[in-house]
Amino acid sequence: MKTICFLLVNFFILGCKVGDAQHSALLQNEAKVDSLIQLMTLEEKINMLHGKHMFVSAGVERLGIADMKYADGPFGIREELQPDGWMPLGWENDKATFFPTGSALAATWSGELAYDYGTGMAREARLRGKDMILGPAINIQRIPTGGRTYEYLSEDPFLSAALAVGYTKGVQDNGVAACLKHYALNNQENNRGTVDVIIGQRAMREIYLPPFRAAVQEADAFGVMAAYNKVNGWWCAENDVLLNQILRNEWGFAGLVVSDWNGTHSTVASINNGLNVEMPTKKYLGQALLDSVKTGKVPVEIIDQRVREILRVRLAVKPVPEEKANIEMTSQPPQQKIAYDIASKSIVLLKNEGVLPLNLDKKLIIAVIGDNAEQKMANGGIGAGVKALYEVSPLEGLKNKIGNQAEIVYAKGYVPEVLDWARLYGGKSKEQIEKEDQEKAIRNEKLNEEAVAVAAKADIVLFFAGNNRAVETEASDRKDMMLPSGQDDLIRKLAEVNSIIVTILVSGAPNDLTIVKPLSKALLISWFNGTEGGNALADVLVGNISPGGRLPFTLPIKLQDSPAYALGNYPQGVKNKDVFVDLVEDTESQSQKTKSLNNEDPNTAYYSEESLVGYRWYDTKDIPVMYPFGYGLTYTTFSYSGLSTNKDKYSAGDTIEVMFSLENAGAVEADEVVQLYIHRINPSVDWPNKELKAFKRITFKPEESKKVSLSIPVKDLMYWDEPSGNWQVDLCDIEVMVGASVSDIKLKKTVSLR
Ligand code: BGC
Repeated sequence: MKTICFLLVNFFILGCKVGDAQHSALLQNEAKVDSLIQLMTLEEKINMLHGKHMFVSAGVERLGIADMKYADGPFGIREELQPDGWMPLGWENDKATFFPTGSALAATWSGELAYDYGTGMAREARLRGKDMILGPAINIQRIPTGGRTYEYLSEDPFLSAALAVGYTKGVQDNGVAACLKHYALNNQENNRGTVDVIIGQRAMREIYLPPFRAAVQEADAFGVMAAYNKVNGWWCAENDVLLNQILRNEWGFAGLVVSDWNGTHSTVASINNGLNVEMPTKKYLGQALLDSVKTGKVPVEIIDQRVREILRVRLAVKPVPEEKANIEMTSQPPQQKIAYDIASKSIVLLKNEGVLPLNLDKKLIIAVIGDNAEQKMANGGIGAGVKALYEVSPLEGLKNKIGNQAEIVYAKGYVPEVLDWARLYGGKSKEQIEKEDQEKAIRNEKLNEEAVAVAAKADIVLFFAGNNRAVETEASDRKDMMLPSGQDDLIRKLAEVNSIIVTILVSGAPNDLTIVKPLSKALLISWFNGTEGGNALADVLVGNISPGGRLPFTLPIKLQDSPAYALGNYPQGVKNKDVFVDLVEDTESQSQKTKSLNNEDPNTAYYSEESLVGYRWYDTKDIPVMYPFGYGLTYTTFSYSGLSTNKDKYSAGDTIEVMFSLENAGAVEADEVVQLYIHRINPSVDWPNKELKAFKRITFKPEESKKVSLSIPVKDLMYWDEPSGNWQVDLCDIEVMVGASVSDIKLKKTVSLR
């Protein structure tokens, strides 16, 4: 009986997928696509399969097929570059809106805001004449130190998936194709161009692929970018399992796969296994591919299929006529408003011992301390960056919102980190580095002293700590999660002269808070929060808005507690030169590089923690954390009561409906993010202790009560059964738990699956 049930469930789900794929906007022009292919020469087809310029792949002018123009994302439309290089063209009107980066968006826990985000990105892409945005970036945040954690969304697949769907729909509903990146398992930056991720099928299916799958199946994503790394022995850009078997055959993806920039490694395997466009080069899918077709190594049918997949996207996205692009400034007020809304809802209040919101009746002297109060975060690292039309820093935001209601005194406090290529990739001697470090220490000391003097005279200190864009960057992971620039030392000194310290972390990723937490009366994360970040933060600090962000990742006590570190799976030995260096220098070939690096470095990342990623690890292993996943305070409290479910026993096709009451017990308007976790009581396979399965962000007026309902389709509770290579339901009892974080469960009830 159980087996029949399983088969029915699988049939039902697979049936749905095929149905979804057929409704894809990509499949509405098949006759036209086929007729175009009929008219094309082999050379014209091959010409579409590689880079024409750095961010353009070719169409066929003769047939009216426009070129495909790509724009980096994910958090703003990149400035215009020289066609075949990385040098900016220096235009005036390509200044874009800098949207809060990925982890900030995720901290809103709002699929609706993700949709607005995508809308804003697409509108600006259209103004610039672009067809495809290289975003959203949706890899799971596996290690706290990952260089692109700030670009990515969350450590949790369900939250990441919901946001990926919102972002993708927002982009595509506004006439631009989204490109999900980086598919797949690009969870570290060190050695990203050479590392081979060794992972079991279950963890891959349940943790790392769901955001991609959801964005393909629920949001009809038109594009996917293959990651730089290998997965289970195969480069992502030629990975038959990832591209053909899973993405296309199982999920029904009908669109185009583009390589990450310089991430193609072969001709025959790439084209056969599902890659459409080699970017930005034509080393493998140019003349070499033409030769391979002519010598019979690659059948013309494969070329036609790859061209078909590109044409579907090309026909689904209307090109912007040349004369209509780049007329107006890229950044426009409606998009700036979206950036503000997201920023103001992303800020996470971690601690508040009665000091926030700031009491401006008292004509306070406010010491604003730390370079991060004035540092701009739109740029600064390798890779993703935005030439922002403007960016309101926290210091500017505070001045805007506080005006003359308080006296604001600023001190820089510490020397910020800067990106130093020569240090990263060699080119500076040991002596030179030591000398620079000594000089920096002296400058830091002086800035510390000035800051202490300012703090001593103030009523309250706003200490701006955290990383910056040079610390968190593509192409390198952080070596630890300590606060940079001697910030721990500085706060110790500040605390000696002023006990009222509010610490604001301007970071996109976790920091070690061992020192700052006890020394701060209040603690917040304000992220790399975009064009309007400073205004949003100031509105939260002065109480115009109640903080409503929740952690999209766990803040561990120490790095060694985190799963990949605890198990010795990361780091994997020395860091080598990044793939990006070759992109810039365009020197040796990928394959030579791989060979030489392989001699020095195993370049293998074992994911033996399997599904115990993020909170799944700490919660299951009972490891205490600094702040748990989903956590965040506000300026009021909420009370939860009366949980009920629509049934007690559920079958495969059912949906578990969970209802409860929620009351804002305080006198200010605020948002609560209700989270629904499940715990399996008597399962037949291993599970993490808790898994997020639903959430909702809800706004409450003062003292308002609401009935809340959340639902979980039983089909979303399945596990990937490795022996059968399929999804299966684990028929067991489950506790449905409603809470305000993974560690703060307010209500629960046991139901059963049968
Ligand atoms: C990054 C991608 C980016 C591409 C083009 C690569 O180095 O990994 O995310 O879209 O460059 O700029």
